[in-house]
Amino acid sequence: MEFKGSHILSIRQFERGDIDTLFATADSMEPYAQRRRVTRVLEGAILGNMFFEPSTRTRVSFGCAFNLLGGEVRETTGFSSSAVVKGESLQDTARVLSGYSDIICMRHPDSGSVADFASTSRVPVINGGDGPNEHPTQALLDLYTIEKELSARGRNLDNLRIAMVGDLKFGRTVHSLCKLLMLYKQVSITLVSPPELAMPAELVDEMRSAGIAVEQTDQLDQGIARAHIVYSTRIQEERFASVEEADMYRGKMRINQSIYTRHCEPNTVIMHPLPRDSRSDANELDTDLDDNPNLAIFRQADNGILVRMALFAQVLGVAHMVDQYSHDVRWHHRRG
Ligand code: NCD
Repeated sequence: MEFKGSHILSIRQFERGDIDTLFATADSMEPYAQRRRVTRVLEGAILGNMFFEPSTRTRVSFGCAFNLLGGEVRETTGFSSSAVVKGESLQDTARVLSGYSDIICMRHPDSGSVADFASTSRVPVINGGDGPNEHPTQALLDLYTIEKELSARGRNLDNLRIAMVGDLKFGRTVHSLCKLLMLYKQVSITLVSPPELAMPAELVDEMRSAGIAVEQTDQLDQGIARAHIVYSTRIQEERFASVEEADMYRGKMRINQSIYTRHCEPNTVIMHPLPRDSRSDANELDTDLDDNPNLAIFRQADNGILVRMALFAQVLGVAHMVDQYSHDVRWHHRRG
């Protein structure tokens, strides 16, 4: 794909070569993400960050990634602080806001809404999650994390065995990740969920046609037994008809250290897009895993900065100039 000037709406836009390019750019962002160097390559550029659904990581990491490249961020959060509550269409909002920004990131509760917005935007739009549909940048940072974690354990993506656990019906991160994994060979995916929260059948069929070995089970212990990566997800309660309905599934796919020790192979990596639901009736990833070095969830969240910096740099056409406009930091930086 041509990165420069493109909207990033679906993970389906990417081919293997694009992923390689993006990940190489992400690697090159480390000195900046680790605050060892500062770059001003996006000096004067403005990111419009529009989040119509709750978000911590995605919103803040998009903003920080843009700041770390030297750009400025303007943020709109929630419907109540936007003219959308006055009946303005997404297309009109896009026509206006694209005059104020150089790139826009957007999250919205409706499937297809970000594409709708992008259709009248004069600047590139990046999908930060459109309802249960897609979350392409999360899939990119998830795959980046999978590669890094596997390589630290002497493995690569070939013959990857991954178990996806939890709400596979409404979870947009697993939808995008499954689509992305179709680009790779010899991948086995075990889908572990209550039957009512299974991965959409069309996506399962598509994965099988693409050569992925897909198994489905509602038995957590069997599902995670042979995986290199266990990817846990939250019950997406905001997408259920009622909280009571979501309550029926909460806490059904709980992973803690004793389940890990009993059922996972040594060094199985645990991932989660976060937020993990730590309320006692859910507790999908117990805090007793926090000392387990294979719990990659915070490294995964950190990787979001690298991958989002890389995407901004590619889409705005400055990836080759990042170092040219850089210098060492003068202040005490926080980590190596
Ligand atoms: C996810 C999302 O919003 O889809 N979070 C994220 O972006 N890291 C997952 C979730 O909310 O459960």
